[in-house]
Amino acid sequence: MDLKRRPLIAGNWKMNGTSGGATVLVAGLSAAAPDISAELAVCPPFVHIESVRKAISVISLGAQDVSFHDDGAFTGEISASMLADMGCRYVIVGHSERRQHHAEQDQIIAAKASKAMQAGLIPIICVGETLAQRQTGQTEMIIELQLSGAVPRDATGKSIVIAYEPVWAIGTGQVATTAQIAEVHAQIRENLQKRLAEPDYLRIIYGGSVKPENASEILSLADVDGALVGGASLKAESFLAIAKAAV
Ligand code: 13P
Repeated sequence: MDLKRRPLIAGNWKMNGTSGGATVLVAGLSAAAPDISAELAVCPPFVHIESVRKAISVISLGAQDVSFHDDGAFTGEISASMLADMGCRYVIVGHSERRQHHAEQDQIIAAKASKAMQAGLIPIICVGETLAQRQTGQTEMIIELQLSGAVPRDATGKSIVIAYEPVWAIGTGQVATTAQIAEVHAQIRENLQKRLAEPDYLRIIYGGSVKPENASEILSLADVDGALVGGASLKAESFLAIAKAAV
């Protein structure tokens, strides 16, 4: 393991579960975490963060989104400082479901990532192409555009994580091939190597139908430093099996 890039296996629970179920799940993960070499993180829905926080140990806590505003009159929003106050270490920004259903664009995502960094959180900045973009040969260009638009100017290799999530692989069971993943991860690393301070610390994680069955081949790729797991993070057994594949 490259000590500068300890693998990160993060669970994005999306809009699922009850507070009771969340507590049971994180307690089970916490019991197993000391025997796992990767860093584990869970990103529950906002309303479950408090109950998860009470049951968590060893594992990092994260959120699924954050406001680009500072505290104030912004009904329904959750600020970065509130997440930091709740013990969060990570926050996902720019997930494709937010890009798609909430019309989030790179400029907003960069503003969210900046607020997260200012509050001492590590934004997990998501990038990824749609199926139509891949089929028309635009993947490389889309990734370049998203990186230049969504990664804050003052980000460093230590202060952010990048998640490559091809939109067509999310929740579809259709995982990208190892060649496709390796190619895009190498592109992201090359791009940010030039731009960021402390580039050797940059973790680039893959998301999109990661399961126990495909985790070890994905996680053994040179430029893959972990996974952002959706569906398979909702059960301790499958999430832990994925985490154990990261060495
Ligand atoms: P699935 O693992 O369910 O495909 O979701 C991936 C994802 O969107 C993680 O953020």
